[in-house]
Amino acid sequence: MNFHVLTLFPEMISQGLQTSILGRALERGTIRLSAVNIRDYTTNKHKKVDDYPYGGGAGMLMQAQPVYDAWKAVSEQIRREKVGSGNVRVIYVTPQGKTFHQAMAKELAMEEDLIFLCGHYEGIDERVVEEIATDLVSIGDYVLTGGELPVMVMIDAISRMVPGVLGNEESGRNESFGNYLLEYPQYTRPEIWHEKKVPEILLSGDHKKVDDWRLEESLARTRKVRPELYEKWAEENQEYFIRKAKKEARARKKEAKRMRSGNE
Ligand code: ADE
Repeated sequence: MNFHVLTLFPEMISQGLQTSILGRALERGTIRLSAVNIRDYTTNKHKKVDDYPYGGGAGMLMQAQPVYDAWKAVSEQIRREKVGSGNVRVIYVTPQGKTFHQAMAKELAMEEDLIFLCGHYEGIDERVVEEIATDLVSIGDYVLTGGELPVMVMIDAISRMVPGVLGNEESGRNESFGNYLLEYPQYTRPEIWHEKKVPEILLSGDHKKVDDWRLEESLARTRKVRPELYEKWAEENQEYFIRKAKKEARARKKEAKRMRSGNE
């Protein structure tokens, strides 16, 4: 996966993604990152990239020309390196976009190249956005000072969906949002900490019981914190409730039988 980021602050992107798991993936070449300085493409002799908005209003806007030329240079470079590659998706990160989520991360991880466009100041001239952006994406309902942090968030989430980035393939699977559910609580040594004991069932060695317990914990947590996700899961997993009802009925029957034989 090759990430290309068009930004006014390239060092923020390259430094921010250099550590830990992504740092290792970059070193190994599992993912590649190039941060391109939009300012390098301005034709303005003072290296200016912004101007006042027509119609008035607060702040400055990034101008179309440097953004377009930076995009064109990157697109041409990708085309030169890859014979026959189609048009590369250009993701403009903006609070006006669709909200980013796990399924989107998974889908984007299947692309070979992605170009991200970071806005600054009050945004970017709409005409260049119309011309080059294929996707408008927001990372949530709040406004940041620029697109660099959203792009880093997205690159992190997308990268961990790229095969080989996570050391253990398993760790990408059984986690929050993969199936609408939030992850169950996890514990490591010591067994008792601040007088709190690790749930007994996790020490039992009974994998089936551990899996059942984890699912119940995930369901309880999701229902409490994110009821809309719980409803989605419930809709798609009706057989779980049928199985659960049958199990409870069997347990009630067994208990009634036990009571009867106790009374005899
Ligand atoms: N730029 C500024 N705020 C943003 C947000 N919430 N998501 C994506 N890009 C942004």
